[in-house]
Amino acid sequence: MKLLITDLTEEELGDSYSDHEIISDNGRIKPCMGCFGCWIKKPGECVIKDGYELAAVKLHTADEVLVISRYTYGGFSSFVKNVFDRCIPGVLPFFEIYEGEMHHRRRYDKDVPIRFIFRGHDLTDADKEQARRYVRAVCINFRARILGIDLEEAEDIKRGIFTPEQTDSTVFLNCSPRGKHSNSRRFLAEFIKHCGSGDITDLASYRNADDAADMAAAASKLVLAMPLYVDGIPSNVLRLMERLELYGGSRTVYTIANMGFYESRQIENLLGMVRSWCDVCGCTYGGGIAIGAGEMLGMEKLASLEKGPAANMHKGFALLAEAVQNGTAIDDIYADPSGFPRRLYLMAGNHGWIKGAKENGLGKSDLLRCPEIKGEII
Ligand SMILES: Cc1cc2nc3c(=O)[nH]c(=O)nc-3n(C[C@H](O)[C@H](O)[C@H](O)COP(=O)(O)O)c2cc1C
Repeated sequence: MKLLITDLTEEELGDSYSDHEIISDNGRIKPCMGCFGCWIKKPGECVIKDGYELAAVKLHTADEVLVISRYTYGGFSSFVKNVFDRCIPGVLPFFEIYEGEMHHRRRYDKDVPIRFIFRGHDLTDADKEQARRYVRAVCINFRARILGIDLEEAEDIKRGIFTPEQTDSTVFLNCSPRGKHSNSRRFLAEFIKHCGSGDITDLASYRNADDAADMAAAASKLVLAMPLYVDGIPSNVLRLMERLELYGGSRTVYTIANMGFYESRQIENLLGMVRSWCDVCGCTYGGGIAIGAGEMLGMEKLASLEKGPAANMHKGFALLAEAVQNGTAIDDIYADPSGFPRRLYLMAGNHGWIKGAKENGLGKSDLLRCPEIKGEII
């Protein structure tokens, strides 16, 4: 089966890809909630029932995949990214070291070949290089193979058509889809202690995307806390960022990003995307901190300790908080766990998945199942 994942509309597609199965935007896709139900409740399938729950099975079992996406800050548009975020069930929860970094073990015994086409206005070689770095990371993560990366000219999009009423204020925005129960929120709470004062706003508490964009656009400084999803920005955050392109004004943007794997360097693409977004919107990129092993450092007992595994993170928070207070920009900071070996984190993580499965009445072998698609889907 040949699969096309695209943000093009049916009208734009016409009959051009009639030999492909197509995953496109029907307006009903929901973002990943970060629940990991696809690993420990219904292994291999997303638990959100909106018609896209088998996207992972399709992507990971296709003979060939074509991805056509608007070039968005060096990566996919929010819709295409949403599909990729929903495809993590296609790999196993278990960690291993692959190409020198922590990654998930493969679920399916094949490297899916994927061709990427990025559409945008006046895209440059530098844009292509940024996209190449990003899809390379995605393909390592998903155990896929890059067949090619092409750029296609497309009409530019409108920007800066609303003028927000801005105040001299800082919004500390927890962008994690897990909302109040997220590591991002715990990190933000710790970060605010370094800043002196501030309140957390949860993106997940906004039902209406326009209201969320109004709120974020009104601030002169924006601190975005978010998890790394499939080597980039989670689709719910991309949706907000795309929306914010419609607003003028200028603001300084800071980022606190955390991740499941150990090596904080894997967050480089995400921070690069926030920087590209700032360039597109005419905002100032203030710098960010990348936190490795976020699922461990985000634990309530660890996050607040300035000594021990979270020491590097707190040192980074102090530097970034100073920049936020002064409204200045700093270089990105990469914080791996201090004095906590990667091997131990990997073992604890893998044990955690088996424990999680048991709590759902599943054994280790259930986690390894490889769902297949029978008959016509979507
Ligand atoms: C859809 C999805 C994709 C993810 N992709 C990655 C990834 O590419 N690399 C990584 O290290 N962690 C990845 N993670 C793990 C999260 O970054 C990690 O669980 C993080 O601590 C969640 O933070 P939060 O509680 O603030 O949402 C992913 C998680 C989900 C749900």
